[in-house]
Amino acid sequence: MSSQGSKNKVGSVLVVGAGIGGMQASLDLANAGFKVYLVERDPAIGGVMSQLDKTFPTNDCAMCTLAPRMVECGSHINIEKLTYSEVESIEGEPGAFKVRVRKKARSVKADKCTGCGECMANCLVRNRAYVEPPEPEPLELTPDELGDVNRIVAEHEGEMGSVIPILQDINARYKWLPPGAVRRVSEALEMPLSRVLRIATFYNVFSLEPRGEHIIRVCMGTACHVKGGSRILESLERELDVRAGGTTGDRRFTLEAVRCLGCCGLAPVVTIDEDVYGRITQQKIVKALDKYPA
Ligand code: FES
Repeated sequence: MSSQGSKNKVGSVLVVGAGIGGMQASLDLANAGFKVYLVERDPAIGGVMSQLDKTFPTNDCAMCTLAPRMVECGSHINIEKLTYSEVESIEGEPGAFKVRVRKKARSVKADKCTGCGECMANCLVRNRAYVEPPEPEPLELTPDELGDVNRIVAEHEGEMGSVIPILQDINARYKWLPPGAVRRVSEALEMPLSRVLRIATFYNVFSLEPRGEHIIRVCMGTACHVKGGSRILESLERELDVRAGGTTGDRRFTLEAVRCLGCCGLAPVVTIDEDVYGRITQQKIVKALDKYPA
């Protein structure tokens, strides 16, 4: 691998580490016309930031910062990603380096892998120990609810990665994920309950607590915060007599404070169910509540 200087924008560049810094450097170089070899010792790009929830000091969503760069890096024609690889040696001088990169064996066909994780669940090497399954707990679902959940599971039968769509449908039906329904999904998909719960608790859209008929989301992301999002939230808390994260006594509304609804140009933003209220004021949002019956 060699680099011939940036004067004529030719040659190639090696970037070691595909965290947020490495990805941004690669994108800048690739957009400037260089061929970039991006070396990452982990199996995927993203680095430590992909494990974070919020970033200091703005409390912005780490994934919102990272994901666009990961997508751009993943598809950029000038960036060749060498994941699960490490630099072994470097020789040469500025303008003419030779780098030896060791690629580790993945033991999967990278071009076919969708990252579903099923191979891990069924790995004969890792799962040699057999543990007696515990007695199933009663599902605490009425016959009608059990029928509903079974129907939803059946609708997604045979789909790859069906657990998320199934949980979405159950969440849409009940506005939350009743514990019995979660256990039924775990049984039906023969997936450990801990794994179903891990998915259910990862996404904000799922709730393990009963929720109101209508979900109000008040954006507290940076743009909305600057434009008075917290005052909107306070007026809704006063009007509904419930704190953010809570549900009104009549189960009509659940009030949530969320980070960035993805339409910062309309700040401050509130959504009620599927309706988006942009550039909203305290008076208008309180008035809008009348449109949502109990
Ligand atoms: S910060 Fe509110 S929509 Fe992005």
